[in-house]
Amino acid sequence: MSVSQSLIQSQTQKVPLLNVSGLSVQFETQLGRVRAADDVSFVLFENETLALVGETGCGKSVVASAVMNLLPQNAAVNGNIEFEGRNLLDLGEEEMAKVRGAKIAIIFQNPSLSLNPVITIGDQIAEMLQVHGKAAGRSQSIEKAAGVLQRLGLGERGQLGMYPFQFSGGMNQRVMIASALVLSPKIIIADEPTKGLDSATAAGTVREMEKMKDLSGAALLLITHDPALVQRIADRVAVMYCGEILEIGPCPEVFHEPLHPYTRALLNCLPERGMHPIPGVSPSMTNPPKGCKFHPRCPKRRAKCSQSPFMKQIKANDTETKSNERWIKCWLY
Ligand SMILES: Nc1ncnc2c1ncn2[C@@H]1O[C@H](COP(=O)(O)OP(=O)(O)OP(=O)(O)O)[C@@H](O)[C@H]1O
Ligand SMILES: [Mg+2]
Repeated sequence: MSVSQSLIQSQTQKVPLLNVSGLSVQFETQLGRVRAADDVSFVLFENETLALVGETGCGKSVVASAVMNLLPQNAAVNGNIEFEGRNLLDLGEEEMAKVRGAKIAIIFQNPSLSLNPVITIGDQIAEMLQVHGKAAGRSQSIEKAAGVLQRLGLGERGQLGMYPFQFSGGMNQRVMIASALVLSPKIIIADEPTKGLDSATAAGTVREMEKMKDLSGAALLLITHDPALVQRIADRVAVMYCGEILEIGPCPEVFHEPLHPYTRALLNCLPERGMHPIPGVSPSMTNPPKGCKFHPRCPKRRAKCSQSPFMKQIKANDTETKSNERWIKCWLY
């Protein structure tokens, strides 16, 4: 291949950064075995934003925790989470600690639970740099922390010495974003970054997220209930239901022409689309319906739907760029 050909290819072809395949997570509980993630597979490409959406309890945070290797003891995990040639699920705690924060960072939904209340904002961020050996000493790490906070609009010197309780919820959210950015990770996972924020603060956080994406060039896995946020900043969207991904595709196409009946139903819940509730009840995670888990609620169900469908690629605008592919798990396709 000539240099110009490879240059053209590098511009059109997205490079896979994280490859999750056949991920299953089960919890043994007193009520039975919870299948929180069931054969979850997706690729996160360099520099992209992939949104993971779905109803509450469908397994989005469990997927994020699996990637960070932060699942609790009662979780049985299987599958492959490939990053830089290794399966993250095989890494011991020592190796994983070098990946967490430095290469893959997570922003949790509740900053007041994630930030240490007795450590100043500046020191919390500086500590990340020191733990990972990314700054020579305290003054250099504080300097770098100040730089990142400044980029997110919290640069005043006095603010570095303040404690989380002296900041508003939105400001603390920005501190969380700064701590995720400071080590220049390749992947940032944001789990419900706007949940619980009032609409003005949520809009501010969205702006920070966009800034963050542009500044760092990192790939973003955005977990959210907020379709407006997805439409605004995600390149692709993966729709999850009862532990499974049912549809993945480029964001504009999925929003414009949702293919899976569940995706259609989910989007029809939006106020601008008539606020139609999804008929029926959310499935039990311990005893989910056999076959397609959505079929008892699906207006298009047929006899075959009591068997499990498999993921099918149904459309590809550009065969060179796998990030354009649409994948559906439904017998209609
Ligand atoms: N430690 C645990 N032990 C038992 N069950 C758990 C545990 N953690 C999560 N679960 C269950 O796994 C399922 C998926 O949970 P998860 O937190 O991933 O949902 P979610 O999609 O992130 O929901 P939300 O949108 O409300 O944050 C739920 O049924 C939840 O009750
Ligand atoms: Mg969650």
